[in-house]
Amino acid sequence: MAYEDKTFKTKRFQALKAREINKHIFLKEWPEKGITANQGPNDPKPSIKIENGKVVEMDGRKREDFDMIDQFLADYYIDTSIAEEAMAMDSVKIAKMIVDINVPREEIVRLAKGFTPAKFVEVVNELDEAEIIMGIHKMRARKRPGNQCHNTSRTDNPVQLAADAAENRLRGFDEAEATTGVAPIAALNSIALLVGGQTPNVGLLTQNAVEEAVELKMGMRGLTTYAETVSVYGTERVFADGDDTPWSKTFLAAGYASRGLKLRFTSGSGAEVQMGYAEGRSMLYLEAKCIMITRAAGVQGLQNGAVSCNGIAMCVPGGVRSVHSENLITALCDLENASSNDQIFSPSDLRRAARTFPLMIAGTDFIFSGFGGVPNYDNMFAGANFDVNDFDDYLVVQRDLVVNGGLVPVTEEETIAVRNKAARAMQALHAEMGWPEITEEEVEAATYAHGSDDMPPRNIRADIDAAQDIMKKGITGLDIVKALAKNGFEDIAENILTMLKHKIAGDYLQTSAVITPENKVLAAINNINDYQGPGTGYRLNKDTELWKKISSIPQEIDPKTYES
Ligand code: 5AD
Ligand code: CA
Repeated sequence: MAYEDKTFKTKRFQALKAREINKHIFLKEWPEKGITANQGPNDPKPSIKIENGKVVEMDGRKREDFDMIDQFLADYYIDTSIAEEAMAMDSVKIAKMIVDINVPREEIVRLAKGFTPAKFVEVVNELDEAEIIMGIHKMRARKRPGNQCHNTSRTDNPVQLAADAAENRLRGFDEAEATTGVAPIAALNSIALLVGGQTPNVGLLTQNAVEEAVELKMGMRGLTTYAETVSVYGTERVFADGDDTPWSKTFLAAGYASRGLKLRFTSGSGAEVQMGYAEGRSMLYLEAKCIMITRAAGVQGLQNGAVSCNGIAMCVPGGVRSVHSENLITALCDLENASSNDQIFSPSDLRRAARTFPLMIAGTDFIFSGFGGVPNYDNMFAGANFDVNDFDDYLVVQRDLVVNGGLVPVTEEETIAVRNKAARAMQALHAEMGWPEITEEEVEAATYAHGSDDMPPRNIRADIDAAQDIMKKGITGLDIVKALAKNGFEDIAENILTMLKHKIAGDYLQTSAVITPENKVLAAINNINDYQGPGTGYRLNKDTELWKKISSIPQEIDPKTYES
C-alpha cells in the first residue's frame, strides 16, 4: 500500500507521490457491484437456442425470463439465419479472424449479426491491446478516419462560438458539438456553430447536446445537422430510471431519420455501475448490450468508449483496454464509431496520451468524439482529454507517425481571416434578426481570442430572451440563409443552404457519413474501409497533398538555410 495518505520516508516515494498520476483515484475491483472492466460474476456464458425462427434462449436465459433488453436484442438484433453457425464457432478462432488480414471485413460483419452479448465479450477478451487496435484498423466502417470537436463557451458567447467553429473546421474537424452553460440559450449556440462552421467552406456537421425534445426540434428546423447524445443503457433499471426503453429510443431515432438528420446513439462502460444498477455484470458485458441495441434500433452509429463515464472505467485494472474493445465491438456491428477520447479523466499527460494514441493509430470514424476545440475552462462537457492547447502536440505526432489523425496544420493568417469573417457574419445576422447587438469590439476580440476570458462580457439575459424567442417563433435554417444572403455573406448563406439540401437528399444518412469541403459525402458505402494488409485500406501516401500539409508544420526549419 505504497500510496496511502501518509508521509513517505524516502525522497523517491515522496517525489512519486507528488506526480500528476497520483492525483487520480485507482480502485480495486468489486465485481459484485459491477466495478470490473470485463469479468463480472454474473456475466453469462454465450449460448443461443432458436425455434421456428425465434430466439427462445440467449446467453443461458430462457425467453420467459428475458428482461426488456434481452427481448429487444433477441427480436431485433439477432439474425436467426446466421446465429447458430456464428455461435457454434470457437471464440478464439473468431478472434484470430478479426486480426487475420486475409479474412475480409464483410465476413466478420456477417458473423457478428449472429452473436449474443456474451459471445462478443468472449471474442474480444481473447485479443490483446495490439490486436484490438489492429481489429479496429481493419473493421472501422469508413476508410478515411475523422475527428469531432467540442465547441462550447463558459459564457455561452455566440461570437466566440462562431469564431471557434470556423477555426475548428479550418483545422480539419468533420463535426463540431455544442452544449450550453445555461440551458435556455440553446438555440443561439446552435446558430453560432451553424454560421461559423460553414464559414471557411461547406460541410462541417454541427450538433447541440441538450434535452432531447429541444434537440430534436432544433434539428428539424435546420439549426443543427446531426445529433449524438441519445443515450442507451445495458440494464433495465437504468433505462427505466430515464423513463425510457429501447423502443422509445428507437422511436426518437426514427424522428431524426425521417427529417433527414444524421444520428448516432451514445453509451459507454461505467454508466450502469455509476447509476447503481450493474446487476453484478462487467462494464464491457453491459456495453456490448448497448452497442447491439443501437444496431437493432436501426441507428447508423454510436459514440462509445466510456465517454462521460471514463472516470470510473479507468479506475479499474484493464480499464483502457476494455474501453478500446468496446470501440472494436461497435465496428464489428458495422456501426460508425465516434470513439470517445473526449472527457478528461487524468491529470497525467502521459496517461491521457496512452489512452488516446492507440485509437489514433488504429484510426476510427471519429478518433475523438470531442477533441476540445476550446480551452478546457470553456468546455461545458466538463473538460476534454485533449484541448486546443494540445493542437501542436497532436499535429507533430501525426507528422512523426505518418498518420492522419483528422487534423491539419493551419497558419495564423488564415485562422484570423476565418475567425473574423464568422464574427462579422454573426454581427450582421444579429442586426438583421433584431437579436442583441454584436459590437465591433466583440468582433475584434473574437478574431484574436483564445477563450471566453478574452471576450468582453455580454448581457446574457438578453441573449437568453432572444434564444427563447427563436424557439417560439420557429426560426429555421432558411431564415438564417436569407438574413446572411441579404447582408453580403452570400457564400456562407450558400453553404448553409447546401447543408439543408443534404437533409433532403439523404446521402449523409448513410453509415459514417461526413461532408468534405468540396461538398462530397464520404460514407461507408462510397468510402468503405477495405483494409486487408499492406498496400490496401486508407494510406497517407507520401505523394499526396494531405501528406504535404500534415508533414509541413509551420514551425519547421529549412536546414538549407544553415548552408554557408
Ligand atoms: N452512457 C450513456 N450516455 C452517455 N453520455 C455520455 N457518456 C455516456 C455513457 N457512458 C451521453 C449523455 C450525456 C452526453 C454528453 O452524452 O447523454 O449527457
Ligand atoms: Ca461528442
